Amino acid sequence: MTATQDRPQDSPDFLTATRAFYDTVAEDYAAHFADPLADKPLERALPAAFAERVGPGAAVADLGCGPGAVTGHLAVLGLGVFGLDLSAAMLAVARRDHPGLRFEQGSMLDLPLPDGALAGAVSWYSSIHTPDERLPDLFAELYRVLAPGGRLLLAFQTGEEPRRLENPWGHPVSLDFRRRRPEDMIRLLAHAGFTLAFRAVREPDDTLGEGVAHVPQAFLEVVRPG
Ligand SMILES: C[S@@+](CC[C@H](N)C(=O)[O-])C[C@H]1O[C@@H](n2cnc3c(N)ncnc32)[C@H](O)[C@@H]1O
Repeated sequence: MTATQDRPQDSPDFLTATRAFYDTVAEDYAAHFADPLADKPLERALPAAFAERVGPGAAVADLGCGPGAVTGHLAVLGLGVFGLDLSAAMLAVARRDHPGLRFEQGSMLDLPLPDGALAGAVSWYSSIHTPDERLPDLFAELYRVLAPGGRLLLAFQTGEEPRRLENPWGHPVSLDFRRRRPEDMIRLLAHAGFTLAFRAVREPDDTLGEGVAHVPQAFLEVVRPG
């Protein structure tokens, strides 16, 4: 597979801003979220259930993989997974920390994949930087690259309003982190053609040090029928 990296001059503003933000914070982000599934049994159970449904060795993309910790987790679960992200700096960390795995640069709104190429896709807190008006395009693209029967697992923070994160770890950057109502996401996913397999919401947990993300966390699994 050859990744079609968006050229910054061609990118919509939100992709350019997201890439620049994560290029700046990549090392600090990776150090802070070294294992984003640690101490989270529900968050570990959901990818395990997803892996069992898509099957051993299934072709799966971890879209918006960041430093690759979730990609590594999916690989341990036996999936034929690769990671994709906008940010070159995030990908450099992912390749360093997971040298046996494949990571590609690109946008999940314009995936360098043929129709029906994947048995599964995971978007673990990566749709949160896509503006509301582009979510239909995102879900249409994910539907396109999944084979009939393919499954999509999503994680995101719940809420109504975006939260703007300013100066993380002292870096002079900022970015909107969008929170969404699960019912709105389910409606848009259904409009793209997906069938809902499950929804789960975990309440905020004081023991997890969730910081600005101390809100209910939503998880959806949807299926491309067929
Ligand atoms: C909050 S981080 C989550 C990273 C990782 N999934 C995790 O849970 O640790 C969001 C990641 O999504 C990536 N991202 C956001 N929008 C993207 C897009 N349209 N295409 C590819 N990656 C994207 C960002 O570059 C960033 O690495």
